[in-house]
Amino acid sequence: MQTEPFINESKTLLQPSGPAIIEVRNITKEVKLNREQKLTILNGVNFQVNQGEMVAIVGASGSGKTTMLGLIGGLDTPTTGQVFINGQDISKLKEKQLAQVRNRTIGFVFQFFNLVPTLTALENVMLPIQFDKKPQFKPEERARELLDMVGLSHRLNNRPTQLSGGEQQRVAIARALANQPALLLGDEPTGNLDSHRSQEILELLADLRRRLGLTVCIVTHDSKIASLCDRRVTMKDGVLYEG
Ligand SMILES: Nc1ncnc2c1ncn2[C@@H]1O[C@H](COP(=O)(O)OP(=O)(O)O)[C@@H](O)[C@H]1O
Ligand SMILES: [Mg+2]
Repeated sequence: MQTEPFINESKTLLQPSGPAIIEVRNITKEVKLNREQKLTILNGVNFQVNQGEMVAIVGASGSGKTTMLGLIGGLDTPTTGQVFINGQDISKLKEKQLAQVRNRTIGFVFQFFNLVPTLTALENVMLPIQFDKKPQFKPEERARELLDMVGLSHRLNNRPTQLSGGEQQRVAIARALANQPALLLGDEPTGNLDSHRSQEILELLADLRRRLGLTVCIVTHDSKIASLCDRRVTMKDGVLYEG
């Protein structure tokens, strides 16, 4: 992986300041709408996040934020360009290898929590550990430890409907951290919470980042939440700008 500075499409100088955990190189994403029409969602995106950073991606609805986060997280692959995670080019990996990167290196948090409704908090957090072919942890022990870390050791046996939005997001964060990822990605992780709970969740992410040496990258509409991150980038019409 190259580490020298380069100029992106928006003519922003990207100067690496440490080891890059995310490096997106000139990616485009096109989708076919029908036989004649295609839509260019991302149009030459360059983006870098260094280890330990906490970065906010902002931008209008429909600008391509979720699509880009999905490419960084290995949920989807770009039409052209490269995505490096920890120096590994994941843009051309097959689904099986991609799934391994997702399970081991990346944790995801979503706006609507996406917990399994029939499982308790403890069982939800145990799930990704049980899915791992070579688990590094004992599922129940690890899940208890993580739920304690997010302040929910008194809610282990509650199902999602028995928890508040803020509590459900804490469970989702614990689940995202189950296999000790280096990178936590959040797509509007506070989008369904009031401002008080949003700030609490952001403080939790900042605290986990510090304690676990995580790198955090979140999409947010909330300028107050974005201002609490180290750095902000803006998605506009499929291109990313610093600031
Ligand atoms: N699979 C797809 N097929 C067609 N259009 C899509 C697809 N995925 C995203 N889009 C469109 O691409 C644009 C960007 O979507 P998205 O990345 O979800 O934006 P954001 O998260 O910033 O709101 C939107 O106009 C959306 O409708
Ligand atoms: Mg979105």
